[in-house]
Amino acid sequence: MVVEPKVKGFICTTAHPNGCKENVKNQIQYIKSLGKNDCPKNVLVIGCSTGYGLASRIAAAFGGGANTIGVMYEKPASGKRTATPGYYNTEAFESFAREEGLYAKSINGDAFSQEIKDVVINSIREDLGKIDLVVYSLAAPRRTMADGTIYQSVLKTTGESYTQKSLNLKDNTIVDATVEPATEEEIEATVKVMGGEDWYEWIKALSEADVLSDNAMTVAYSYIGPEVTHPIYYDGTIGAAKKNLHEYAGKISEDFSKKGVKARISVNKGLVTQASAAIPVVPLYFAMLYKVMKKKGIHEDCIRQMGRLFRDKLFAGDAQTDENGMIRMDDLEMREDVQQEIQNAWKEVTTENVKEYADIDGYWEDFYHMFGFKIEGVDYRLDVEV
Ligand code: NAI
Repeated sequence: MVVEPKVKGFICTTAHPNGCKENVKNQIQYIKSLGKNDCPKNVLVIGCSTGYGLASRIAAAFGGGANTIGVMYEKPASGKRTATPGYYNTEAFESFAREEGLYAKSINGDAFSQEIKDVVINSIREDLGKIDLVVYSLAAPRRTMADGTIYQSVLKTTGESYTQKSLNLKDNTIVDATVEPATEEEIEATVKVMGGEDWYEWIKALSEADVLSDNAMTVAYSYIGPEVTHPIYYDGTIGAAKKNLHEYAGKISEDFSKKGVKARISVNKGLVTQASAAIPVVPLYFAMLYKVMKKKGIHEDCIRQMGRLFRDKLFAGDAQTDENGMIRMDDLEMREDVQQEIQNAWKEVTTENVKEYADIDGYWEDFYHMFGFKIEGVDYRLDVEV
């Protein structure tokens, strides 16, 4: 069938298999152009199918020659419904990896569950022996516990309600968005879903099953961002979860110190992904950030961020971290000149002049690319097998 984009708000309900494949191919080509990185041999990527996780897997495999096991939560096609982009991305990743003789296995299921942890552990035992690097790149809306309790994450403030300029993704107008405060239960639930507990449980399960190498490394991704997004992001419910994630990095390094396990947080740049498009206020900031960073020639997408992380930072030791022990991949985003320019533009931006201050086209380009659309070299008129 001919697959076309069907956009509803911040989500597209279709994905193009050939476009997704091309997207993965382009990312692989970019990583290869950087030359070899020092990634160790066996890598587990939890949240491997889109965004930062997919880019990490590509950097590990095609930059470091690593064997990779990936965990994702994606839907295959059914009838006339296309699969989710992460499903197509992963199929493409595996076929490119096979072509180069690289081991790649992907497990589709709920990473929070013990069942999936057991499936992964068995695969490591049977195929690889031990894992040297665990990348934790989950962005999930909910978590189901072993006893059936479901925690749902929310994107709210933790104090008072917050009103700020926001991009209405339906028509690219600037509107005032008000974000309501969360209840204590909602904060707690968001921490359960997006905090560090499950990361810790993964490391514990791998260590107890003796499938984690001595001196293994693990990295999880975080975001801090500028003040204008703090009430909704860093000081909001999601930020509470990220602070919890940061605490767990310390706890993992401490509790597994006998094995020499080192847990790192990499604070990444803000980018359009399926997860971030859902946050109010943030898409406008991202579009303005794109504008300024592109103008200065320092814009990076997921693969450029992860290429730099794997080549220059992750394996370079403590010298590459800030005073809190975190790797700052947001160094260019947070540069004073960049933030000052955005702050000035933020005061001015309205529906009438939005294209002058915000890279609306760039925002939507990234958005469509995520679902395999509007990618150069892909013939969208063709009938494709979904
Ligand atoms: P994404 O939505 O592109 O990727 C999420 C991944 O998690 C996908 O592979 C998905 O299949 C997987 N997943 C979701 N629920 C799952 C489940 N229950 N079981 C197994 N797999 C599951 O998200 P993105 O943006 O790449 O986020 C990854 C991490 O990077 C998150 O921790 C996010 O907070 C962080 N980050 C994102 C930034 C951004 O601007 N997008 C900036 C800095 C950090």
